[in-house]
Amino acid sequence: MSNTQPTPDRILQLTNGYWATGIIGAAASHSLFAHLESGADTAVLLAAEAGTSERGTQTLLNGLVGLGLVEVLDGKYRNAADTAAYLVEGTPTSLSDLAILKLGHMGELTELPQIVSAGGPVTEPTVEVADNPHWEKLVTAIAAMSTPVTAVAAELLHIADAGPISILDIGGGSGIYSATWLELNPAARSTQLDWAPVNAIARRLLADRGVADRFTCVDGDLHTVDFGAASYDVVVYSHIAHQEGPEDNAEIFAKVRDALAPAGTFVICDFVVDDDLSGPPFPLLFASEMLVKSKNGGTWRRGDYVAWLEKAGFGDITFHPTPSPATLILAR
Ligand SMILES: C[S@@+](CC[C@H](N)C(=O)[O-])C[C@H]1O[C@@H](n2cnc3c(N)ncnc32)[C@H](O)[C@@H]1O
Repeated sequence: MSNTQPTPDRILQLTNGYWATGIIGAAASHSLFAHLESGADTAVLLAAEAGTSERGTQTLLNGLVGLGLVEVLDGKYRNAADTAAYLVEGTPTSLSDLAILKLGHMGELTELPQIVSAGGPVTEPTVEVADNPHWEKLVTAIAAMSTPVTAVAAELLHIADAGPISILDIGGGSGIYSATWLELNPAARSTQLDWAPVNAIARRLLADRGVADRFTCVDGDLHTVDFGAASYDVVVYSHIAHQEGPEDNAEIFAKVRDALAPAGTFVICDFVVDDDLSGPPFPLLFASEMLVKSKNGGTWRRGDYVAWLEKAGFGDITFHPTPSPATLILAR
């Protein structure tokens, strides 16, 4: 006879979910994943490499094994496959900086009960403050999340063979789309619209990649800057839709349609929710982050995007999965 009685195990793990944020953030702060990858495979060796206490290091290792991020066999530790791919510090796809950033965000959620009552931020919002220094910390940390997506989008758009195209990246952040695509296509040019200090960060990345001569920045607010008319072959809007409310997204999509050449493509990347609000889990959970940080943001349904895009005059709209929890939407 099978035991169908529910147990409290899952609820206890989730209720203590901040353990995961703390353990991963602390491990990343001490570059533990990189030391594991380099062969330090015991608490003693790791503590010596990281300059941490043996007790603290062993406790982190126990927690990481509990989370399934590190494996232990005969007293030797090693990164699990996804940890090796996405948490080893200093690699292009490493989310370790994001893990450290999230450690600092933990306290914000203690205000969630009041935020839910109020329907938005109860102290200063993050998104609506012009030129918020928050972005400078965020954009480099999330570049690793966008890196695999830029590759998927490049394939879908045949960027490498597209010739002398002109790209606009709205809220381009680290500049990761421009960097990847200008490297792939030596005839392409790209313009990034973002706040001035963020554009300075992007310029450094583009210079490091040797493509800064084909990269231009426009400093300013994406709500008020004129995107131009029929000027671009590709316009990118990556991880911006979730910070905006429905009206702003609809308004911006109409401006994008005007800014695109007639055969141009609008590329949206975001955490898209199923129309019946049943999933996927990451987009559903991420909405709470936007409730805390923005006045009108959220995670939007496929049907919301289709409605805004059709209203703006786009006809051919397709959705594409990516290696991240984000979905790519292409509209022409
Ligand atoms: C979540 S990040 C996304 C960065 C990048 N597109 C990516 O997907 O990796 C949001 C970006 O939008 C920029 N941003 C937010 N609000 C803005 C506004 N009102 N005007 C201009 N840029 C803005 C931020 O500075 C930041 O670079």
